This record gives sequence, C-alpha cells and structure tokens, in this order.
Amino acid sequence: MPTLNVNGRERAHDAEPDTPLLWVLRESLGLTGTKYGCGVAQCGSCTVHIDGEAVRSCALPVSAVKPGAKIVTLEGLAPNGSHPLQQAWLALDVPQCGYCQSGMIMAAAALLRDKPNPTDADIDERMTNVCRCGTYNRVRAAIKVAARGGDARRAGFDIVHLARSDATDGGRS
Ligand code: FES
Ligand code: FES
Repeated sequence: MPTLNVNGRERAHDAEPDTPLLWVLRESLGLTGTKYGCGVAQCGSCTVHIDGEAVRSCALPVSAVKPGAKIVTLEGLAPNGSHPLQQAWLALDVPQCGYCQSGMIMAAAALLRDKPNPTDADIDERMTNVCRCGTYNRVRAAIKVAARGGDARRAGFDIVHLARSDATDGGRS
C-alpha cells in the first residue's frame, strides 16, 4: 500500500494514483482541515505544503508526490495553536465564514518562510487565495502581525480600530 509522509507521520492510503492529493488527505486520512473550493487550482482553499512549498492539492495527483516528500496540512502547522500565524489570526479575528482560511494560513506560512518580513507587494504577489467573505485586509494585517511574532499590539495594531474599519471595507485594498 502506498504511503505519504503527512504532518510528520507515514500514512498508508489505498487511493488510485490519479486521485487528487486533496481527496487523499480528506477522505483517506481524515484530515478535513484542507478545503475543496474550485477544484481547478484557482482559489487556494486546498493549499498545503510539500517540502515547505505552498501547493494547491486539488490539482495534484497523489502519484505526483515524490517519495519521501514531507506534506504539512493545517493540522500539522502547530497542533497546539502556538504558530505566530495562528496567534495573529486569533488576535485580529480574521475569519468570517472561515472556509478559505485554512488555505490562507498555509499560503501565508509559506510566504513567511521565504520572506520573514513581507512588504505589501510581497503579500499581493504570493497571497492569491480567494476569500468570498472579503477578509483580505485582515489577512494582510495578520501576516504582518505574525511576522512580528504574533503579538498584535507589539506589532503596532490597534485591534478594535482594525476590526471596525475592516468590517465596512470587505475587499482588497
Ligand atoms: S480547491 Fe484547490 S485551488 Fe480551489
Ligand atoms: S472567510 Fe469566508 S470565504 Fe474567506
């Protein structure tokens, strides 16, 4: 039976080789934190990491994952919630419906790995995930907070002001 290294563990699965990685994670391995949105690599809700790179798992056949590659899903980012992105997302109350947020966080984690202090341009370039609730401003702010360790006040954000102003915006700025 083929195996995948997911969140630090070897996991066996019996999916067909052309099954998208997303469905192996969700259906075979029970890791439902990774979401299905478009199925055609456009929205980013299915983003996971493979060897540290953000990958849209809906469009990747499981047979295309190289032997020994290390897959990380939202469940494996920091199971105790201590990752700076998780702290920042909580501090700024980023999600609305929440559906896209797993992919947002995984994309942001890959961004911060490559650029620990991203500029707005860096964020625009790398954060191409779609959010139908329009949380883009809060996502941007939370990435900046996470880049400073996850503490919103230390990063200079007034949480109350941000929440109020962003609530009426709703779109990319
Ligand atoms: S579900 Fe994979 S990019 Fe939309
Ligand atoms: S929070 Fe609802 S789609 Fe992004």
